[in-house]
Amino acid sequence: MLEIKGVSKSFNNINVFKNISFNLEKGDRLAIIGPSGCGKSTLLRCINKIETPDEGSIYIDGINILDKNTNLSEIRKKIGMVFQQFNLFENLSVIDNITLAPVKLGLMTKEEAEKEAINLLKKIGLEDKKNNYPSEISGGQKQRVAIIRSLIMNPEIILFDEPTSALDPEMVGEVLELIKKIASQGMTMIIVSHEMNFIKNIATKVLFLDEKKVSFYGDTEDAFTNKDNKRLKEFLAKSFK
Ligand SMILES: Nc1ncnc2c1ncn2[C@@H]1O[C@H](COP(=O)(O)OP(=O)(O)O)[C@@H](O)[C@H]1O
Ligand SMILES: [Mg+2]
Repeated sequence: MLEIKGVSKSFNNINVFKNISFNLEKGDRLAIIGPSGCGKSTLLRCINKIETPDEGSIYIDGINILDKNTNLSEIRKKIGMVFQQFNLFENLSVIDNITLAPVKLGLMTKEEAEKEAINLLKKIGLEDKKNNYPSEISGGQKQRVAIIRSLIMNPEIILFDEPTSALDPEMVGEVLELIKKIASQGMTMIIVSHEMNFIKNIATKVLFLDEKKVSFYGDTEDAFTNKDNKRLKEFLAKSFK
């Protein structure tokens, strides 16, 4: 479903990572872990074509997203992204944030989008906030709205970039719960997170980025029971402290 082959990226001639390859099947949930600055966000941004890799190929459902002829909005329909800082439009109400993309891309009429947005807001108990602005709701609520905004597009895959890192501790749980719920519905996802217990619980695969390359890629259980990869072992030990 998602096929990444030999992807490298540098900024100003400094290599962030080299030769990243992995495949995801439908329903896989990949956790990307690694020290700060190792390129986790950059890798997600390459998959969503916010950044362009220097080398390699990225296929989603057989479509080469790096091909110049591939329409960017086609890619954005297939790939949802949830950011650490929510990235809601502050000047738009909750419901307008959610309906903006599907209406703009011509996937739904305004009425259809609003109906679906209210449906989704009901599911997360935020229907009463539909006319509020982002500044009027909590961080946890903002992130859940951001997740709904990506769900309304009916994506093939959702990329989460540290979705709980900017939240007060008491709001982390509600966001993780929502991600878990989406996972249980079979959504394919990539999650960058430092919440190791959450990863252990939810991810089917783990990719450990370290020293500019893939240091480990395999099943979640193997990642957490691994004895051979010293760097991974140390990283996990530190993360659980
Ligand atoms: N737009 C950019 N221009 C220059 N350097 C960048 C840019 N984005 C990221 N970097 C650098 O690339 C490296 C990886 O960053 P990032 O992907 O944010 O790491 P992580 O998400 O793992 O913390 C860092 O050294 C960062 O400073
Ligand atoms: Mg990052």
